[in-house]
Amino acid sequence: MPMPVLRPGQTFKEVALKDGRKAVLRAPTWQDLDDLLEFINELVEERVDILRTVKSSLKEEAEWLGERLASIEAGSLIALVAEIGGRIVASSEVGQWRPEYPGSNHVGILGIAVLKNGREVGLGTALMESMIRLSTQAGFKVVILDTFATNTVAQHLYRKVGFAEVGRIPKAIHRDGSYIDLIRFAIEM
Ligand SMILES: CC(C)(COP(=O)(O)OP(=O)(O)OC[C@H]1O[C@@H](n2cnc3c(N)ncnc32)[C@H](O)[C@@H]1OP(=O)(O)O)[C@@H](O)C(=O)NCCC(=O)NCCS
Repeated sequence: MPMPVLRPGQTFKEVALKDGRKAVLRAPTWQDLDDLLEFINELVEERVDILRTVKSSLKEEAEWLGERLASIEAGSLIALVAEIGGRIVASSEVGQWRPEYPGSNHVGILGIAVLKNGREVGLGTALMESMIRLSTQAGFKVVILDTFATNTVAQHLYRKVGFAEVGRIPKAIHRDGSYIDLIRFAIEM
């Protein structure tokens, strides 16, 4: 537990966005390496509310993607990317929260990001709903996530799809001379 639900590259669904564009939600493949490198580096450059603050090199991204694809095949990771017009504009994953402890294998931890040009048109909502469905199918019983207290858009989205706030780590992040709390959300499947 959990078990594989999507193979690398497998399409999960197509989504009609609020602005008329269409997004394809599918599991990532090795061919996504260059796109995923640009994806993470654009988020770092924009300084969005994520833990990562340093850009990735091609070598680091290749190692990261290689590990991710192996975990997808092994069934310990669910990952979706969203493509619009052949470019990756969003990514989300649920991995095991504490893989080293078999007693916690049923708890997943979720991450999500949408690039600026794909935001506010329902893509985050579609990805979150898809990840909840896939997590249930994979056998996860609880999915948790952490978000910056400053990230009001993300918090609105998480509550909307059924997550509830379960805790707060005060001053967990230090950025630009100030401390930011991390809020933990959870959903039971
Ligand atoms: C958070 C994020 C994933 C949302 O994705 P998205 O594709 O824009 O999400 P959607 O378009 O599906 O939904 C956005 C919701 O936020 C609402 N929203 C917009 N601005 C808001 C604000 N200032 N405060 C509260 N809610 C807001 C929208 O109205 C919409 O809600 P609705 O569907 O009820 O109207 C995206 O903004 C993102 O990736 N940001 C950068 C990285 C990040 O913060 N990742 C999360 C880390 S925990």
